[in-house]
Amino acid sequence: MLIAHFARLKPVCPVCRVTHSVESPLRIGAVGKQLGNEILEGSLICSNPRCQREYPILDGIPIVLADPASWFNQQILGILKREDLSPFMQSLLGDLSGASSPLDRDRGNNAIYADAHWNPTAPAFLDFFDRAAGLLPSLSSGPSLDIGCSVGRGTLELARRTQDLTVGLDLNFSMLRLAQRIRLTGQADYERRRVGLVFDSVSCTVADYPTENVSFWCADISILPFPNATFRNMTALNMLDCAPSPLGLLLEMSRTLAPGHYALLTTPFDWAVGASQPADWIGGHSQRSSPHQGSSVEELPRFLAHAGLEVASEAKDIPWRLRLHERSVTEYSVHAVAVRHQS
Ligand SMILES: C[S@@+](CC[C@H](N)C(=O)[O-])C[C@H]1O[C@@H](n2cnc3c(N)ncnc32)[C@H](O)[C@@H]1O
Repeated sequence: MLIAHFARLKPVCPVCRVTHSVESPLRIGAVGKQLGNEILEGSLICSNPRCQREYPILDGIPIVLADPASWFNQQILGILKREDLSPFMQSLLGDLSGASSPLDRDRGNNAIYADAHWNPTAPAFLDFFDRAAGLLPSLSSGPSLDIGCSVGRGTLELARRTQDLTVGLDLNFSMLRLAQRIRLTGQADYERRRVGLVFDSVSCTVADYPTENVSFWCADISILPFPNATFRNMTALNMLDCAPSPLGLLLEMSRTLAPGHYALLTTPFDWAVGASQPADWIGGHSQRSSPHQGSSVEELPRFLAHAGLEVASEAKDIPWRLRLHERSVTEYSVHAVAVRHQS
């Protein structure tokens, strides 16, 4: 986290927002490791004397969560993961831990998104991003936010287009670490599943991004640790259907997007059962009684309007491909909308 980014974003305590409905600014606490103007290890502290919570900065990524304990328990593998192991040892440990083990899930998940974002010859995500971003009428100068950034290509693409501060935000620390490593080293090193527990190493140089304008944050999209109207551009790509509360995501987008500015929202409406309850989905349920027979596409504008977001343009079927292994690709047909925060 660059100190200048912290000063510009003026982050606030998520616990104070939830429990006391106040915006308590965070301040920089301890600094353990620093590289130039970038804090790699340290803490942020809530300035509210009744709270004073401490939030860690790890690998240069601020972790600003209202419920850190359950997050730490779920993400411990990504937090303590080693990066010094040879491909030989990674492969041996992968075999020993077995299929669908936490290690295998972490490797597999990272492989899918790293390859989509950073494959040196055919990064499927880039085609997708270009088509979706074409819906935005304009990009403004000022801070941007990429919600659910995963391994970071969208964040860096947004930063390249705006040439201004761009925050990539996610909950998955393993993916954020990869995004951060690519940002800091200009090198995308990742694994790609070939078959079963067999992975190949991929390494490529990533050039021409204004990496000094990019900041990766670990936070929950349900409680963004930023004040109202912080951002001038926003993307939430393929994550509405993974959100714990889809309407909650739209409300947080609206709260933190400056009035009159645009956000890009894309989704395959692949409602994830583990992420949210069907009653909270946008369409996808109550076929008999809902005005649009459960159509997610038809229901979306009503939810957007409730959050103060108005559709400016849309595309109904942008392909989004994820490679699972050498003989398997999942292709989604994604619905994309550029929305304007009504002033
Ligand atoms: C389907 S992936 C999409 C990733 C990327 N935007 C893309 O299009 O390739 C959804 C992302 O949202 C993140 N995510 C899920 N729930 C989240 C939450 N509550 N807060 C922040 N990020 C979340 C996941 O970790 C994952 O990286």
